[in-house]
Amino acid sequence: MKEDDIALDVFMKVRNLSEKIYRQLLQVTPGGVNSPVRAFKEIGILPLVVERGSKDTIWDVDGNPYIDYCGSWGALILGHANGEVIRPAIEQIQNGSSFGITTPFEQKLAEKIQTIVPSMENVRFVSSGTEASMSALRLARGYTGRSTIVKFNGNYHGHMDALLVQAGSGATHLPKKAATLGIPEETVKYTVSLPYNDIDACREFLRACPDVAAVIIEPVAGNMGLVGAKRDFLEMLRDETQKQSSLLIFDEVISGFRVGLKGVQGLHGITPDLTCLGKIIGGGFPAAAFGGRKDIMEYLAPLGPVYQAGTLSGNPVAMVAGYHTLSVLEQEGFYELLQEKTDYFLNPIEEYIRKKQLDVFLSRQGSMFSFFFGTTSVESGEDAKKCDMALFKKFFLHLLDRGIYFSPSAFETCFVSSAHEWEHLAITQQHILDFLYALD
Ligand SMILES: Cc1ncc(COP(=O)(O)O)c(C=O)c1O
Repeated sequence: MKEDDIALDVFMKVRNLSEKIYRQLLQVTPGGVNSPVRAFKEIGILPLVVERGSKDTIWDVDGNPYIDYCGSWGALILGHANGEVIRPAIEQIQNGSSFGITTPFEQKLAEKIQTIVPSMENVRFVSSGTEASMSALRLARGYTGRSTIVKFNGNYHGHMDALLVQAGSGATHLPKKAATLGIPEETVKYTVSLPYNDIDACREFLRACPDVAAVIIEPVAGNMGLVGAKRDFLEMLRDETQKQSSLLIFDEVISGFRVGLKGVQGLHGITPDLTCLGKIIGGGFPAAAFGGRKDIMEYLAPLGPVYQAGTLSGNPVAMVAGYHTLSVLEQEGFYELLQEKTDYFLNPIEEYIRKKQLDVFLSRQGSMFSFFFGTTSVESGEDAKKCDMALFKKFFLHLLDRGIYFSPSAFETCFVSSAHEWEHLAITQQHILDFLYALD
């Protein structure tokens, strides 16, 4: 967004300081943001400029509170500034925030992940989900000696060149082939993007192409709104990749520790060769990981010929925060209570949509959810793109105006955290129902 394009707020809140800071930011950073979706381009209003967060609420720099359902794009399953996470993280900061040398919590967090997600026999930590998927792909190519990568339209795996083709999230509106300027055609000539959930098209391709190094998939996609992969689609992928000796990579950067303790692979009992994790495993700090079969992971340097590295990889503050976050998630009843809260919040809305036969699809998976307008079902990126964006924008503004922050794009997902208060869920539910009454 250029400076002149900032629409003045269409809603009531006073955001003078937010506007001042954003205008200053526009002078020093492209579009005033460090990641495109934060610019609220789809919504067309001044973006939020946030000062602090506590539990389920964030405050902008003008002091306006918002009940937060974005939760740092799903990372904050325990809400903002959870004491069980930040106290040990602060203690670690006081003892040094980075060494570039091995520290004990790398072992503790890796072991915990390995115990919870047994397919990850070996784990390597990195600092972002992009790095995790990029490294997993390089490893898959190195291990198989093949080049072709299969991905799915509308899935997003971070901003690495080969995976931006037909990607979701902020890349949804980019042109088709190389996805963005700066990516040479040659770089993406080995990327094949297929329709999500299309069993026949995908099986046919996998059987016909002997050069597939890996199939990478968001097994619950959170970057075209929320769209779950059908179980038989995932089973087919497992089956065919095994037959063709290519690797199956589950990108569980969003779904890991979110749809349940063991991620989508735990829900369906499907074992990928490699898994990417991120978001939740850093407890709000920059950490991500990839891991899987030991014989594959041993291809990585320093043991093997596939190079991969990182100055801040396994950063001790992020490791400590991640370890303590997972420790809370492991406590008995954690996911049951999270589901209870989500059901309490969303079931009546779902029921209303069904009863009134509205042209609205409330997509849900555990504590993840998203609203699609102008449709009653979405199974792919193509379906998601057909939805009514203008109505989504109205919906988003209706909520923001009432102090509720949803992820600011129809191609993103929202999240309930364990910190959401029942009363806040009830208030949010009422405001959503009010919006839906007007559609009836
Ligand atoms: C499924 C998935 N994979 C990878 C990424 C990239 O992660 P990061 O933004 O940490 O690079 C994301 C980011 O949203 C994601 O949702």
